[in-house]
Amino acid sequence: MTVRPLARRRIGAAGIGSMLAIALAAMTVTLAACDAGSQTAGAKSDGSGNAQVSADVNTNANGNANANTNAGVGTQASASLDSTSTAASSVKVAAHEAGQTRAQVYESVRQMTALGKQLFFDASLSGSGKLACASCHSPDHGFSPANSLSVQLGGNDMHRTGMRAAPTLKYLQSVPAFAEHYHESDDEGDESVDAGPTGGLTWDGRVDRGSDQARIPLLSSFEMGSTPAKVTAAVKAAPYAAVFRTAFGAHIFDSDEATFNAVLQALETFEQAPEIFYPYTSKYDAYLAGKTQLTKAELHGLEVFNDEKKGNCASCHISQRTMDGAPPQFSDFGLIAIGVPRNRALQVNRDPHFYDLGACGPERTDLKGRAEFCGIFRTPTLRNVALKKSFFHNGIYHSLDQAVRFYAQRDTNPEKFYPVVKGKVQKFDDLPQRYWTNLNTDPPFDRKPGDKPVLDEAEIKDVVAFLNTLTDGYKAGDKAGNQAAAN
Ligand code: HEC
Ligand code: HEC
Repeated sequence: MTVRPLARRRIGAAGIGSMLAIALAAMTVTLAACDAGSQTAGAKSDGSGNAQVSADVNTNANGNANANTNAGVGTQASASLDSTSTAASSVKVAAHEAGQTRAQVYESVRQMTALGKQLFFDASLSGSGKLACASCHSPDHGFSPANSLSVQLGGNDMHRTGMRAAPTLKYLQSVPAFAEHYHESDDEGDESVDAGPTGGLTWDGRVDRGSDQARIPLLSSFEMGSTPAKVTAAVKAAPYAAVFRTAFGAHIFDSDEATFNAVLQALETFEQAPEIFYPYTSKYDAYLAGKTQLTKAELHGLEVFNDEKKGNCASCHISQRTMDGAPPQFSDFGLIAIGVPRNRALQVNRDPHFYDLGACGPERTDLKGRAEFCGIFRTPTLRNVALKKSFFHNGIYHSLDQAVRFYAQRDTNPEKFYPVVKGKVQKFDDLPQRYWTNLNTDPPFDRKPGDKPVLDEAEIKDVVAFLNTLTDGYKAGDKAGNQAAAN
């Protein structure tokens, strides 16, 4: 059984080193926020720097040189101010070596981010002409869906569905690349501890980069259903075609593949904009910075969330700053099986033999047949979770109360969550029994029928109140968290 210690993770400086090497090899270097002071002033003032750097966006070639040790949508060094400025000056040197001034680097990132933003909202990239990235990832909902469907509609007739709920796109910057065995490299951490399968993008961690991820919905027959040729035609006809040409070269449209890859790069760069995707402006961030108080209910919810014998939520959804002061991500990015019930409303699940087994398939193929990976899904961040309307990988629940109640009562009152057939509860009905050994058994999953639920009604309510403090956009003076977050 994998033991997940109350670990605080950060991505070590290794990423910066390898990136510098790439940069010195004269790759184009883009720099999203080399100066913590300018773009993450809030974070800086409360003692945590946040330098985000991306060595990438090579426009001329299949420049897939990959300097990132992170999956996420770029490499982020969450670091103390000291190492932040080290990172910044490394990049300055690198940019200089690559023949770019700091101003040019900023300009190039600005341009790419602006293009990526336009692409993100452009439905003409899709086969139907009706679906943009933003259709499923709404900026007003933490880049998760605006509606409460378990899974979103797509495909050329806009009637097709996949098997998974669309996740938030915020706070993906420090998701590490997928590893079967993840070893803690935090200052306080013990590198000999194997935290198990960790990282990668999507619910099953099957891709490591934002650009590779963006390829999936663009080409998927049940999402945007497009092709590189259609995407190229759309970009050529778009109002931003000229800017696109300026950014990627006069001949970019000569090749559909090159244009498609440039689109993926621009989307990845957009997803790295710190002020949009990881602003750390929640009430909880203000609380950590000593700028606001939590209400009694929120504070009690936090205690229950952290208590190893109660919610034990923070063992997977990390709630404390890292040792060097970087803000918590509310995920350790581990892939874990928690036995979420089968969502019988999904089209795919009409086939009784079909199972979405997460990392062992069917969407992910490289770990097929590896029983130990069946039923595991990546722990999502809980930042902005109150803006979501469907919860868990199959979108089965539609309120935070239901999601938290699942943790509180799954084992004491399984009949509330799983079907009952002839008086017998069909527990873990979305995971064939041969994989049940993969299920996590630490608190809160250490009970049986007849035991007291790990959280009582008042505690469930308070945990939900606490989760409502994780929504970005808090302004001092707001009463109970951000009210837009009300679930
Ligand atoms: C039809 C709805 C839909 C559209 C359109 C869509 N996505 Fe997604 N997105 C999803 C779903 C569902 C997932 C989870 C996929 C999985 O786990 O297999 C996802 C996952 C992601 C992730 C990974 C998030 C994580 O937590 O690891 C990123 C990044 C992303 N989408 C970006 C995009 C971009 C960029 C576009 C446009 C090119 C896009 N999406 C279009 C539904 C959509
Ligand atoms: C053992 C690790 C672990 C623990 C402990 C844990 N979670 Fe989770 N959490 C996960 C994983 C993994 C998922 C996604 C599971 C899936 O969809 O199959 C998840 C999903 C969620 C979601 C849905 C988020 C979304 O975007 O759909 C919420 C809400 C949540 N957890 C809250 C909590 C709370 C509250 C607690 C404590 C009572 C808790 N978690 C304890 C690992 C954990």
